[in-house]
Amino acid sequence: MGWTYTVIWFLCLSVRGSWQQLNSEPVIHGEVHFPQYPGPYLPNQKKEWDLWVPEGYQIQLSLTHLDIKASSGCSQDSLTVLHDQEVLGSFCGQNNSTDHPDKESILSPGNRLTLIFQTSDSTPELQQHTGFSATYKAIDIDECSKPDPGDGSYPLCSQICINTPGSYTCTCHSGYKLHLDQHTCLFSCGDCIFDKHEGHLSSPWYPGPSPPILSCKYIISVEPKFTVTLNFSENFHIESVDTQQGPRCLHHWLQVTTPGREPIKLCGGKSPGVLATNSSTVRLDYHTDNEGLSHGWSLDYSTYSEEVKCPFPGNVAKGRVTPTLTEYFYRDYIHVTCKRGYRLIMDGQKIRWFSAMCQSDGQWQLPLPECQLIDCEEPKPLLNGGLTFLSGVKNQYGSVVQYHCNEPFYFFPGGGNVSFTCKADGKWRSNHNDATLTCIPVCGKPRKLIPTYQRTVGGSEGPDNTIPWHVLLYINGQIGGGMVIADRWILTAAHILTHDGNLVSKDDVQISMGLIDVHTLLGSHAYAASIHIHPEYNNPNGLDYNNDIALIKLQDAITFNSSIMPICLPAEGATYVTDMIGLVSGFTIRDTDNYRILTDNIKYVHLLVVEQETCSTSVNELRKTKDLPSLTNNMFCAGVPDGGKDSCHGDRGSPLSVRDGGRFWAAGIVSWGVDCRHRGTYGIYTRVANYLDWINKTMQEK
Ligand SMILES: *[C@@H]1O[C@H](CO)[C@@H](O)[C@H](O)[C@H]1NC(C)=O
Ligand SMILES: *[C@@H]1O[C@H](CO)[C@@H](O)[C@H](O)[C@H]1NC(C)=O
Ligand SMILES: *[C@@H]1O[C@H](CO)[C@@H](O)[C@H](O)[C@H]1NC(C)=O
Ligand SMILES: *[C@@H]1O[C@H](CO)[C@@H](O)[C@H](O)[C@H]1NC(C)=O
Ligand SMILES: *[C@@H]1O[C@H](CO)[C@@H](O)[C@H](O)[C@H]1NC(C)=O
Ligand SMILES: *[C@@H]1O[C@H](CO)[C@@H](O)[C@H](O)[C@H]1NC(C)=O
Ligand SMILES: *[C@@H]1O[C@H](CO)[C@@H](O)[C@H](O)[C@H]1NC(C)=O
Repeated sequence: MGWTYTVIWFLCLSVRGSWQQLNSEPVIHGEVHFPQYPGPYLPNQKKEWDLWVPEGYQIQLSLTHLDIKASSGCSQDSLTVLHDQEVLGSFCGQNNSTDHPDKESILSPGNRLTLIFQTSDSTPELQQHTGFSATYKAIDIDECSKPDPGDGSYPLCSQICINTPGSYTCTCHSGYKLHLDQHTCLFSCGDCIFDKHEGHLSSPWYPGPSPPILSCKYIISVEPKFTVTLNFSENFHIESVDTQQGPRCLHHWLQVTTPGREPIKLCGGKSPGVLATNSSTVRLDYHTDNEGLSHGWSLDYSTYSEEVKCPFPGNVAKGRVTPTLTEYFYRDYIHVTCKRGYRLIMDGQKIRWFSAMCQSDGQWQLPLPECQLIDCEEPKPLLNGGLTFLSGVKNQYGSVVQYHCNEPFYFFPGGGNVSFTCKADGKWRSNHNDATLTCIPVCGKPRKLIPTYQRTVGGSEGPDNTIPWHVLLYINGQIGGGMVIADRWILTAAHILTHDGNLVSKDDVQISMGLIDVHTLLGSHAYAASIHIHPEYNNPNGLDYNNDIALIKLQDAITFNSSIMPICLPAEGATYVTDMIGLVSGFTIRDTDNYRILTDNIKYVHLLVVEQETCSTSVNELRKTKDLPSLTNNMFCAGVPDGGKDSCHGDRGSPLSVRDGGRFWAAGIVSWGVDCRHRGTYGIYTRVANYLDWINKTMQEK
């Protein structure tokens, strides 16, 4: 049997697993041993094994068992390991390296390894040595970690090396491209073709120094009737080499090539400035090698043609086209402005300015716009007011409108009327600094006054429209009163809005204002949106009327007229002077000696404000015999000094109005009292001036 056959047979059987996918890395491995193993080997033999793995791998051989007859220098029996004729190791003797196989491992420099097992005939007697056993596996070579060859040749990859099983690949940093040689990274120079009529070019990394090994190509190409002009910036530097013939562009250069002419090579530290190429096509080649330093260059190019002309642009009615030239060439601009009072309109849209260029195709970039008379939008209506056109054509530039509030029920806070003019920006403008116009209701100024102050009281009938703020409240069968203080707000007493300590439902409150017909509860009706009792009002058993004040918010705003008007709130720090005359209104004011009856028309009495101490004494006297609430500083008293005629009460919750400086203000709210027919007993009223902050806060927040 020849050696060759044995070897082939052995390798075919002992190569197991072949290419295995292990951790995505292919592994090849196998086992080698003497054919008779583990039996004793025979003398006078020679066997050879050729191991190989794929390119890019090395072989790691591990002796797992060694039992070869020992001899000096292994000159008799031996196992020899070779790579390309080079002996890597020769083994004989006995050992058992299964416990530490790596110590015995041999790494081949390449992807092949030869094993030769040779026995001598020097031991004719049968011996008991068992030979050897070895395993091997393929180990990937990390090409990337190989040291620099140091012989001046380039490293494997010029930028980034990535090891792969059995091989490696090169990649580049961003901005670079891998050259066809798969090893060199070249700077990618960006855009190459420029076909616009003007543009900008610069060297890579400009204004920083240019990267090495550049080979950038730029082509400027426009229609043949144009010529390209290059305008280099001041900042220009391409390395040049001083020779005996002067500076030369030997290693770095920028070459400008135009058809049919010698190329120009540019380098040095001085900007070439403006370069008229006289050509519609220009090619630029920028070259650097791996040495030297060029700071780079930048240029603007433009194109010019004497042939391209645009037609005369024409005229714009009510406007002007500038400049006026005899001929308009490529790259000439025109502008359009409108006469005063007119504005630019293009495609139906307002534009702020207009300019257009004569283009390379001999056409204007844009069609001419129109000049249109400026007009303002329809002026906005004013709630509780109106407007009049004072001058000019309706809503057109220069027109004037005047706003007014519906007098005498509303007024502007600043007084007078406010004029607006339609301005050149198409907006109505006034010199009134408050841009949001609002009409404020006039308070406390009824159109008709009750003619005389009647000292002898008894409940007189009020003529219509004399107490226009009085409100009739009808709550669960009970009559009450209140007063209008703003277009959505009614002020009244807290105690009429509570029943057994609970707030009544807003739906149980019927509200009538204006010319009220009591019997049918007709009049202008309003509906409550919410009810706000003073938070400190707490009167569970009818003996504590402190803070007897409440607000009702209406669902809809009232439009005031002569029959419904608000009363003014007290001024900040208003004082309640003794003997000040108050007007108390209501529908149930008792007429002379009759019992309380509902009257058809609103009734009123004139009462005098009583000194707090006098009233306090009166109340304290009565409290000795009766369970009565106490008088607090949030209350004041009013009545007639002599007593008589139970006319001191209006409907509960009704106003006690005081006229001062031509206006009525809400001084009190009818709260409680003791039979005031008698001398020295008075009606008690909530002192409204103590609640301005609460009223203001509630009206703002609710
Ligand atoms: C046997 O192995 C040991 C350690 O593994 C080593 O020191 C010794 O030289 C080996 N002997 C022979 C004969 O190879
Ligand atoms: C080698 O080691 C194995 C197991 O560890 C043992 O069975 C064998 O006898 C050893 N051989 C020699 C020659 O020491
Ligand atoms: C060239 O460019 C410079 C600056 O960018 C500018 O001032 C100059 O007018 C240009 N020259 C021409 C002929 O366009
Ligand atoms: C372009 O033409 C002008 C005048 O005809 C000439 O002065 C200039 O040298 C020409 N430029 C080139 C690059 O040929
Ligand atoms: C305000 O305008 C109204 C209505 O146009 C007019 O009746 C009134 O006189 C004007 N008042 C003033 C102060 O101009
Ligand atoms: C006042 O306004 C009310 C409600 O808006 C309306 O019912 C009444 O007729 C008006 N009165 C006058 C005199 O305009
Ligand atoms: C109500 O509040 C407004 C705004 O905070 C303030 O201008 C006004 O003076 C206050 N009125 C009263 C009576 O406190």
